[in-house]
Amino acid sequence: MEQTKKRSFSAIQPSGTITLGNYMGAIRNWVKLQDEFECIFAIADLHTITVRQEPAKLRAHSLELLAMLLATGIDPEKSLLFCQSHVHQHAELAWVLNCYTQMGELSRMTQFKDKSAKHANNINAGLFTYPTLMAADILLYKADIVPVGEDQKQHLELSRDIANRFNNTYSDTFTVPEPYIVKAGGRVMSLQTPTAKMSKSDPNENGFIALTDPEDVIIRKFKRAVTDSEAVVEYREGKDGINNLLTIYSVVTGKSIEDAVKEFEGKGYGDLKLTVGQAVAAHLKPIQEKYEYFMKNKDYVAEVYTKSADIASKIAQSTLRKVYKKVGFLQK
Ligand code: TRP
Repeated sequence: MEQTKKRSFSAIQPSGTITLGNYMGAIRNWVKLQDEFECIFAIADLHTITVRQEPAKLRAHSLELLAMLLATGIDPEKSLLFCQSHVHQHAELAWVLNCYTQMGELSRMTQFKDKSAKHANNINAGLFTYPTLMAADILLYKADIVPVGEDQKQHLELSRDIANRFNNTYSDTFTVPEPYIVKAGGRVMSLQTPTAKMSKSDPNENGFIALTDPEDVIIRKFKRAVTDSEAVVEYREGKDGINNLLTIYSVVTGKSIEDAVKEFEGKGYGDLKLTVGQAVAAHLKPIQEKYEYFMKNKDYVAEVYTKSADIASKIAQSTLRKVYKKVGFLQK
């Protein structure tokens, strides 16, 4: 009999432009995980409203993100792909977990501190309890692994603490999830400030590549990429701009960094930037074509997320039922 695969859960926020950073750091790896794990992917729309959103935009961004995930290779035959808000158990378990999480623990979260500073006029309770909702996302599905970037490691650690605490208070209920940290190419830097992570909120649009950027825009942004004054293509400490270009090149071509460095031996930065830009554009082209297709076939996208949510809801309900019983709620 086929051995049952371990389960992976991950989610991504529909907060706007999807960048090459999101793709290289997360999405691309999700696609690969599908062979090894039983994957559950969610659009974390409940998390997104911890920062004020324009309703029409949030709706559009959620659909675009679903279409883009399908375009990059998330396969609904293998994986579940749905919106967090469509599976009501997420919010319900989050409430219970709030009662098993200390204010002190939540106050220590660096993302809470950062976001509070950034959105000083809207430090809402949701922003504070954001990690307990994330714990609920993961624990509902008894996920064995959670692919996360560096910035979410602390939240995952808290999810593990909450799971252990609940299991120790009652009896084994939750699977304690392991982080699955992405190695090579996990961190894409801004093309304009290569010491900072590539971000869609970069005030300089040349700092990031949107997955929907057309070829000429991609090439132009790479041509303007900030490098250094040494004029030698090498991968080493201190050469942040060049390291970033080589990393991106290595990921989109599948070549090793060493091979990439050899390829540019004796060549200038102009050559490097153009070649990387062209390689990125070529890599994104089939993804962009599929994206256009899914955006034109919204009914299909809706069918995928509706079916997935129905299946997810059944798994989630079985966990929630156990939790409700353990904490002592009367069964109906
Ligand atoms: N907070 C994550 C982020 O912004 C998204 C997320 C929500 C998530 N729920 C999750 C990631 C559960 C992993 C597991 O990147």
